[in-house]
Amino acid sequence: MSGPTDENRPLQSTRAPVLTALAAQAVAFIIGFGLAMVARRSGLPGVDLPLILAGQGIIAAVLGLKWGLPRWWVPLQLVLPGAAGAALMLGLPSWVFLAIFAVLALVFWNASDQRVPLYLSNRKTWAALAQLMPADDSRFIDIGCGIGGTLTSLAKAKPNAAITGIESAPLPFALAWMRVKISGLKNIELIYGDFWKLDLKAYDVVYAFLSPAPMPALHEKARAEMKSGSRLISNSFTVPENPPNETHTLDDRRGTQLLVWRI
Ligand SMILES: C[S@@+](CC[C@H](N)C(=O)[O-])C[C@H]1O[C@@H](n2cnc3c(N)ncnc32)[C@H](O)[C@@H]1O
Repeated sequence: MSGPTDENRPLQSTRAPVLTALAAQAVAFIIGFGLAMVARRSGLPGVDLPLILAGQGIIAAVLGLKWGLPRWWVPLQLVLPGAAGAALMLGLPSWVFLAIFAVLALVFWNASDQRVPLYLSNRKTWAALAQLMPADDSRFIDIGCGIGGTLTSLAKAKPNAAITGIESAPLPFALAWMRVKISGLKNIELIYGDFWKLDLKAYDVVYAFLSPAPMPALHEKARAEMKSGSRLISNSFTVPENPPNETHTLDDRRGTQLLVWRI
């Protein structure tokens, strides 16, 4: 296998998003509590803690956006100060924070490094993907298969197809593994690992639901490895310099777009 190497990885920003988010919270904390202290020393009416924490969340969300964080960080930035304050006031033991952090890390393994969080394709997308398979016995791979819903749906719809999923976040991989086992479907292969290190030449359809960040490098990888006549399908995210050959807009609530590049 002419396995791709780390050269295939998309270029990463020099600062991980989680550090940007924490920096925004730190600055927001200083501004929020600083203003509250100044107000108190000047004899103005005191500001309640929940209001300060809400203010901190809003300032952190705005700063995060200004500093280039993707929009999906906004709700996290808004609730983080309030959640931390509530946990401290409730006097939760420290292992609770550790356990929450561990679970989040196992689920959102790729959110910081690869800039790909976990969100899932819906049923209408699964049905549309089955339509976009070039033949009943096509070889399909979901790169970053999450908890495996796309795999089991396609394996059921196309019993003669060979369906593969690869996932590097430990908890979603474990859930996908269980889902595949419970389904009893025999035409699914599940790989634990990094798709940047996997050669894509064996597949007729490569499906990706990732984020804008890795798309240019993924398109390059697909062009270099996939065989002529195969298809790269991206859910929602395009490659600005190389527009897709086809765009399929689904009639679901989010108006999902499946972008197809014919290799
Ligand atoms: C947005 S989710 C999509 C899940 C699934 N494909 C679906 O459509 O329902 C993206 C998934 O890609 C995984 N991922 C991101 N980078 C990866 C990599 N380099 N190798 C393997 N999995 C990766 C993430 O952990 C996450 O589970």
